[in-house]
Order: sequence, then C-alpha cells, then structure tokens
Amino acid sequence: MIMDRKDVLCQNIGYLKKFERDLAYHFSEKTGYPYIEPHWVYVSLSHRCTYRCKMCGVVKILQNYELTTERVKHVFDEIAQWRAKSEVVLTGGEPFLRKDIFDIIAYGIRKNIHIESVSNGALIDQELAVKIMSCGLHNIAVSLDGVSPETHDAIRAKGSFDKAVNALRNLVQAKRRSGHGPQISVWTTIMNENVTELYEMIALVREVGVECLVYHPVIVVQENMQNTLSDAPFWITKAKLEILKTQIDKIIEYQKKNGLVAFLHDPYLWLNYFEGNLKREQWKCNPFVFINIGPDGEVRSCGDSFGNIHKMSLSSCLRSEDAYEARILMKTCAKPCLQTCWAHPDADSLSGIIKEFLDQLRHDAHNDKKTVLREALSMLNEYEEKLKQP
Ligand SMILES: C[S@@+](CC[C@H](N)C(=O)[O-])C[C@H]1O[C@@H](n2cnc3c(N)ncnc32)[C@H](O)[C@@H]1O
Ligand code: SF4
Ligand code: SF4
Repeated sequence: MIMDRKDVLCQNIGYLKKFERDLAYHFSEKTGYPYIEPHWVYVSLSHRCTYRCKMCGVVKILQNYELTTERVKHVFDEIAQWRAKSEVVLTGGEPFLRKDIFDIIAYGIRKNIHIESVSNGALIDQELAVKIMSCGLHNIAVSLDGVSPETHDAIRAKGSFDKAVNALRNLVQAKRRSGHGPQISVWTTIMNENVTELYEMIALVREVGVECLVYHPVIVVQENMQNTLSDAPFWITKAKLEILKTQIDKIIEYQKKNGLVAFLHDPYLWLNYFEGNLKREQWKCNPFVFINIGPDGEVRSCGDSFGNIHKMSLSSCLRSEDAYEARILMKTCAKPCLQTCWAHPDADSLSGIIKEFLDQLRHDAHNDKKTVLREALSMLNEYEEKLKQP
C-alpha cells in the first residue's frame, strides 16, 4: 500500500486521524455514501452454543450455518486493507466451541487487526485460559448476568454462574502468571431479572480481579431490533425503574472514584430507554459504524442484509444497493435505542468535530500547527467538493 502525505500525518498525529475518521462517519451519515468502513465488525462464527439463555435470540436461528476458517481469513484480508482500522469482535453462539478459534485469531493478529471476543465462559478452563492469554486477543469478555447462581442460572443454565466465575478466575490467574494478555472484561446485560444486583456486580468482579465492567441494556425481539416491544419479558417494569435509578447513582459514584466500569454512554439514559422515551437527540445510531457478519455470511448493520460474503466481497456488501436501502430505514428508525456499537456520538455534530480538533491542536507542542491545520482544512474541502457533486 502506498502512503500519501495525509496518511503519514494521520498515522503520526492521533487527533488528526480522529478528525479524519469523525468527518468520514459524519458525512457518510449525512449523504448515505460510505466514505469509510465500519469501525466495528462483529463476526458471528457460528450460532452453536453450550446454552440457550432465555433472552438470547441468536441461538434460535441459523443453527445449520457456520463460517469456514478460510472465509473468515478472507474477511480479515479485506479488513486489513481498510482505512478504518476496524475492530473485530468474535462472537456467536459460543465462539470457543470452534476448534479453529486460535487459528482464526492468530491469522487476524498477524494481519495487525484489533480482535476481541465475548464468551459465556463455559469452556474456559485453566488450559484454555493460558491459550487465550498468549493468542494476541486485545480483549476477552465473559458475560455475567447476576451476582449469584440463582439469578444468572435462571437466565442462562444450571451451573453456568460457577462456570463463568471460574472462567474469569482462570483468565486472571493465567494473566498474572504470564504477565501479559488481553484486557479481561465482564459484560452484563441489564434486565428486569437482575436490576437489583447491578451495583453488587462491581464487588464481585473486583474480588475476581476483572479489569473492566460493561453494562448494556437488554434488547428484546433481536431478529428485528427496529421493532422491539417494550412490554416483552426481561424489560424493566415501571415498578422497578426507581430501583434502576438507585443502582445507577451508586455505580456512577463508584466509577468516579475507582474507574473499573466503562460507560459507553451516560448511564442515566438507561432510564429513558426502559421508560421508552429516549430521543434521537440523546442517542442515535450511525448506519455506517457497525456491521455483523452472520454464520450464513449475511452482512447486516440493523435490519435487512447488505449482501452475502459468499457471493461478493465484504467491501462490495458495504456499497451494495441493499446496503443503501437498509441504511435509509436505519436513519429514519424512531425506536428508543441505546445500541453503543452502532453509535459514534463524536461524529454527530460537525461543529463538535471541529471544536475537538481545534482544542487538540491548541495543546499540540510537537507538530507544526500550520501544517496540521492545512491538512485538516484540505480534508474539509474534499467533502465540500464531494457534496457539490450530484
Ligand atoms: C449473543 S452473546 C454471544 C457470546 C457468548 N455466547 C456470551 O453469552 O457471551 C453476546 C452478548 O450478547 C448478550 N445478549 C444476549 N442476549 C441479549 C439481549 N437480548 N439483549 C442484549 N444483549 C444480549 C450476551 O449476554 C453476551 O454478552
Ligand atoms: S451463551 Fe451467549 S450465545 Fe449462548 S444462548 Fe447465552 S447469550 Fe446466547
Ligand atoms: S436506532 Fe439504529 S441500531 Fe437502534 S434499532 Fe434503530 S436502526 Fe437499529
């Protein structure tokens, strides 16, 4: 790949690179044309799983499909060439059911791709934990939906709480022994069943030695998120919203003093989400930021497929007529929605993007400010020219 002057500058100056990326997502959303590839690429290797959790939609569909090792590697070949420097999340189903999981990860890492994975922990014994620590993954998340077997197992499966906590202990121990490895996270799905335990989750993950805790609210009717119903099971009932508020207060207080919890947005938005009155001005998705590749090869952001990687390249899927149509529906989706992988709030407002860039430029003591500013202006000019075209 031949690098031009802009590439070299962006590579060396983080905030200029961010400016370029934010502009690309901003104008992609405004024009409907993909000026940049998705930041997040979720690869659902297979929907096979050790469990059938009550809230999970993925194990109800596409059980007879699986992406081959070669197909996933081919996807990585493409991603490695992208300007977006996308981050891949290997998911499923249960990704560690795949015998070729470490072959897949090793290939992606060799291509310099940032890869994460999320697991229910059922298969992560001491031996697997050691392998995970040395395979090059950037983050390994284990899902934990309660602080006790009573809660977690009722949602997931008998014995699943102990397995998840053991998996975390194995990962922490393997990391301490080897002195390196991916960040170890816990993902907790917020729902009616565990709303009283959200804050307590902090004490549990701290005791185990987990490095990062991420909460995300439940989605119901996953097959078609745009039509999610708010009276479905798992949805936090009105009667429990006050409990949720108290939990949020305590989590924020803890996070301010101690970190550990990674907020993907203002946690008080969870209240709006479950009340059903979240507005697009508060949180909105960007149809260009996220894609999921299903075990059948279908590429989706939210809603209809963009195309299938068995029939065309991933890059062609992103630029297909179907992708264009699907994104129009996404842009007009009015559902109160808090999906974080789909959002890129930094790119929502053009003045916000410019302000952030100028703030960084002001504090830049290492680079020639005039050169950086000239480059940033030329990026803006390029979009101005593009927008003039019919
Ligand atoms: C589909 S699972 C696949 C990975 C692995 N089997 C696991 O459970 O972590 C990926 C994540 O989605 C979460 N999840 C499942 N059903 C969900 C739902 N209805 N709404 C929000 N998240 C959900 C899981 O808890 C998990 O953190
Ligand atoms: S373990 Fe993960 S993929 Fe399997 S059923 Fe539960 S949430 Fe779904
Ligand atoms: S707001 Fe976006 S991510 Fe959420 S359901 Fe609608 S289209 Fe999907």
